[in-house]
Amino acid sequence: MKNNTTMPDSLIYQSKKTTKARSAALRTRESFDFGWKFFKGDAAQAQQPDFNDQEWRDLDLPHDWSIEGPFAEKPGSATFAHLPAGTGWYRKNFTVLASYRNQQVSIEFDGVYQHSEVWINGHYLGKRPYGYISFYYDITPHLNFGSGNVIAIRVDNSHQPNCRWYSGSGIYRHTWLLVTDKLHVAHWGTFVTCGKVSEKSAVVRIKTRVQNESKNDAKCVLKTVILDSNGRPVQTTETDGDIAGSGEFEFIEKVKIDKPVLWSPENPYLYTVRSTLEQQGKSTDIYDTVFGVRSIEFDTDKGFLLNGRQVKLHGVCLHHEAGALGAAVPERAWERRLEKLKAMGCNAVRTSHNPYAPEFMDLCDKLGLLVMDEMFDEWNEPKPQTPDYGYRIYFDEWAERDVTDFIRRDRNHPCVVIWSAGNEVVDQVVPAGVKTLKKLLDIFHREDPTRPVTVGCDRIVAEPKAVPQEFLTLLDVVGYNYVDRWRDRYEKYYSLDRQAFPQRKFIGTENGSLGGIRGDYSYLFPVEPGTDMRRNKNRWIDFEQMWKFVSTYDYVAGDFMWTGIDYLGESNWPRKANTSGVIDTCGFEKDTWYFCQSQWTEKPVLHLFPHWTWPGKEGEFIPVLCYTNCDSVELFLNGKSLGIQSYWFPRYGMRENYENFPARNDIPRTTSDLHLTWTVPYQPGTLRAVGTRDGKIVITEEIATAGKPVKIGLAIDRKTIKADRRDIAHITVSVLDAQGLIVPEADNEISFGIQGEGRILGLDNGDPASHEDYHGSKRKAFHGLCLAIVQSTGKTGLIKLTATAPGLKSTGVEITGK
Ligand code: GAL
Repeated sequence: MKNNTTMPDSLIYQSKKTTKARSAALRTRESFDFGWKFFKGDAAQAQQPDFNDQEWRDLDLPHDWSIEGPFAEKPGSATFAHLPAGTGWYRKNFTVLASYRNQQVSIEFDGVYQHSEVWINGHYLGKRPYGYISFYYDITPHLNFGSGNVIAIRVDNSHQPNCRWYSGSGIYRHTWLLVTDKLHVAHWGTFVTCGKVSEKSAVVRIKTRVQNESKNDAKCVLKTVILDSNGRPVQTTETDGDIAGSGEFEFIEKVKIDKPVLWSPENPYLYTVRSTLEQQGKSTDIYDTVFGVRSIEFDTDKGFLLNGRQVKLHGVCLHHEAGALGAAVPERAWERRLEKLKAMGCNAVRTSHNPYAPEFMDLCDKLGLLVMDEMFDEWNEPKPQTPDYGYRIYFDEWAERDVTDFIRRDRNHPCVVIWSAGNEVVDQVVPAGVKTLKKLLDIFHREDPTRPVTVGCDRIVAEPKAVPQEFLTLLDVVGYNYVDRWRDRYEKYYSLDRQAFPQRKFIGTENGSLGGIRGDYSYLFPVEPGTDMRRNKNRWIDFEQMWKFVSTYDYVAGDFMWTGIDYLGESNWPRKANTSGVIDTCGFEKDTWYFCQSQWTEKPVLHLFPHWTWPGKEGEFIPVLCYTNCDSVELFLNGKSLGIQSYWFPRYGMRENYENFPARNDIPRTTSDLHLTWTVPYQPGTLRAVGTRDGKIVITEEIATAGKPVKIGLAIDRKTIKADRRDIAHITVSVLDAQGLIVPEADNEISFGIQGEGRILGLDNGDPASHEDYHGSKRKAFHGLCLAIVQSTGKTGLIKLTATAPGLKSTGVEITGK
């Protein structure tokens, strides 16, 4: 949900400065991110307004102090990427206009990790232990209107480990200052749902909670308009309400839209509900809720249905940070990552294992990604990695509040198709677990009766203790974690359970992926003639078999592989990052990204690996692998054919293809795996693969032997960025030979310089074991590549990034901040 500012006017506050008055008493929601003071450590009495913070560091939010490093191995540091945690303080001085004296003012935090405590002008507002939850405080009673105010926040992430992965530390998401009339739509106060949906019509139900914060009763009118994606009204309705002084009222409205454009991954079409409140003919609030018209259903036989159509979930699990940026991730970083997942054919993401930033949810709405929105990794029982400080120490006191806030914040997003109340919670197998699950399900169903709830269960048929059937029966959809962990288990779990529980709805909440380290092929060697080339074969076979199974059987709604993208934490020294992704922490695609693309997209895909630069291996056997969705592929080395390989069942998983696959005698069927292989005695030159479908060439791919590194190549994702102190550009840096080929093993150290209206926000190379500072000005290439992330200073103008390295021809790139 977006609660947009509908009257964009001037800044209403500024550090130690007052700006011009607003023209009307309507909602204003503006960023509160700029101009903070920060102190790393604890500071006595720092909540007092007159505390001297002059020596503190100046910074903007979002901010993650842990990603600033350094990396150091300590007991228990494996979960937290071997980075420092600790305590920190933030303070900000600001002025609120005198004319707001009769308004309501609140401050919103999208996420603070963790255990934040907030004071305004020395008054304690409260605490929020869960570091992933969004929350807000009404600060009206404590404000000095027309003069200075001080907000102070203590953030305590010192108790470690409290999370099984890298959480980040600090006010790592956006903050907002909200000013409304006394009569206003409540925080996260709307709930827009669609009943029956078809291409002919849709019934939209809108619940709007309105608060009257004045002492006087209010007679008001709620005017509701549905706007299409161009902002044109398509339907309106109006309802009167009487709201007692200091009271609250819920309006319930229903409107019908003719010929709605349905939201889907292919066409993520968004509507807006604009709610205008009027009192005595004067508007007091305008509040926007973005939504999509779509229906969802989980079916015992057909899996997942979107708008009545069966859709297999090609899902990936993610963690919330983004490599060099830590937990403070600018929106564009996620946009780029999600675009790469979409291009791979992924249509679903799981917010493992916690609520994400609001803008992440907006992006999924906009890009058309289905979301499994997950709440917890821990309920009442500790996990071995977080024995003392996991969420369970807050569960009894905070779970209801946190879950309610989470659902109210996210329930208008069309992208959210299922909630997950937890991941592999130990409560699955303890006697009290069923009661805990019931309590959570009641909250989920109360706050959102339209979506099912699952839990990622990893003990369904497991030793030593299995989840009781009573627990599984309560779930709307049963989430299976790691049916692929042991070969053939998918058959056992899914098939046997399907027979035993015909009414059960199945989803693969988490399963392994192909992962691996980008550019590292050591697992392929040594190779003897006749060796099974797939050194990684257990992982490959398991993953391929599981995908065949999931895609063949309709009753399994789909699967979320662990993970789409490499993430920080959950890795033993010297590694700081977990490499289970098919994309590395830089956002660079690994070979395995193409496996997914070959299975999940229709356009011809052909990807050969490893690279073809193996000096010293002349004459040795090199396994050449190919991910493709072609029927057959012919491989050539320096023009000489190495033979045709083809699938027994092309796109095995795509049942329709499998059934219609014509018997052809001209192509040898070589494999029932989902990849092709050749064993090739190495000689330098060019490998060329030619892919055919129905006997026609549809794609060719070449990889050639690279020479010595001679120059640096820079490729930028966007030449123009917004000059707003937030927007970023990603620059891919490659070490090239004289022909412009990437040198696969190059690890040259690249030095960066920046001029103009930009700064280097982070440098990365995807190496899970690199301990280089993410914020320096130098980075070694890793398998020929590294990444620079540049952010605007806030001023318009040119930004020039230069890249140099001893012995290489240097280069530069220009970005325009607009
Ligand atoms: C799963 C767990 C994930 C991650 C993964 C690592 O069991 O749900 O959070 O820890 O294992 O393989």
